[in-house]
Amino acid sequence: MKILVTGGAGFIGSHTVVELDKAGFKPVIIDNLYNSNKDVLEGIKQITGKDFPFYEFDCNDTEKVRTVFEKEKFDGVIHFAAYKAVGESVEKPLNYYENNVISLLVLMRVMKEFNVTNFVFSSSCTVYGQPDELPVTENTPRKPAASPYGNTKAIAEDIIRDHVYSKPGIKALSLRYFNPIGAHESALIGELPNGVPSNLVPYITQTAAGLRKSLTVFGSDYNTVDGTCVRDFIHVVDLAKAHVKALELLDAQSSTDFYDVFNVGTGEGYTVLQLINTFEEVNGVKLNYTIGPRRDGDVEKIYAQSDKVNNVMKWYAEKTMADALRDAWKWQLKITTQQ
Ligand code: WQD
Repeated sequence: MKILVTGGAGFIGSHTVVELDKAGFKPVIIDNLYNSNKDVLEGIKQITGKDFPFYEFDCNDTEKVRTVFEKEKFDGVIHFAAYKAVGESVEKPLNYYENNVISLLVLMRVMKEFNVTNFVFSSSCTVYGQPDELPVTENTPRKPAASPYGNTKAIAEDIIRDHVYSKPGIKALSLRYFNPIGAHESALIGELPNGVPSNLVPYITQTAAGLRKSLTVFGSDYNTVDGTCVRDFIHVVDLAKAHVKALELLDAQSSTDFYDVFNVGTGEGYTVLQLINTFEEVNGVKLNYTIGPRRDGDVEKIYAQSDKVNNVMKWYAEKTMADALRDAWKWQLKITTQQ
């Protein structure tokens, strides 16, 4: 089966391309390289031994997307391409709504035009806002997201749901990711944010590698075991494998007009300080960090109840936070020595 992977040169997208290939799928990448670069494609080739078709443009461009659908004849789409930094979305909300929502609308229309039926959407636990109950299940009521980024994901889920229920003949899943971290064990692909990282782990690894002076921990006055935020940190390779399972679940649906939502997390929550301590322990490095003020848009604590994805998709987190932090550091050392 040939699968379009939008944002396939990105962090989660590139790891998913590798797992799709391993599972016998034929991935095709569209990516505008806003938050990535072509070295990632080289890394994918070194891991898989294959040059997958790559189209460099923005998914908001309907005509270019149509051209690729005409040429490639897809069996499914995994849609990663989106802006994803919580803090940045608070500063630039219009950019986030325009980029994250319009690209989805383009794909929905073009998929309908070309009768492509299977769609997997990259959603996020940020749709829960600050949940009243923990761990969050798929039935936990969504709350006004704490950031424009989270809101674009909530809006996108509603668009997909309403579209599927209008019976255009598609089957769709929204995967609500928790916090993806780590890198491929080969250290040939990993997280490669352009500019100053907004996410915790790449900032940590760049600080430990001496590229940043010090990490600022955003707030230590939260109502948690050590005052810092709690997150569900999931290894990016485990998350990538969940997309293979999602495509297999869709393929197994006899009828179209099918839509469902899954939390994809480990089911365990750790604080920022616990992650920092684990990073130092498993890698034998000391991290420079200071405690600073809270960051707008952050929720205090969130982690998944993963029963549904375990039971329905038979997907389980296989790697630990320690594995991810080891892999992230190995990747950082690799790219730092290459610079
Ligand atoms: C994690 C924690 C920060 C940076 C991410 C993705 C988002 C979505 C959900 C998939 C927070 C703290 C961070 C720093 C810090 N994923 N932090 N210092 O905000 O949970 O969102 O997961 O869809 O796309 O961005 O992740 O890594 O930015 O922050 O103290 O320099 O680390 O306050 O508590 P977040 P993050």
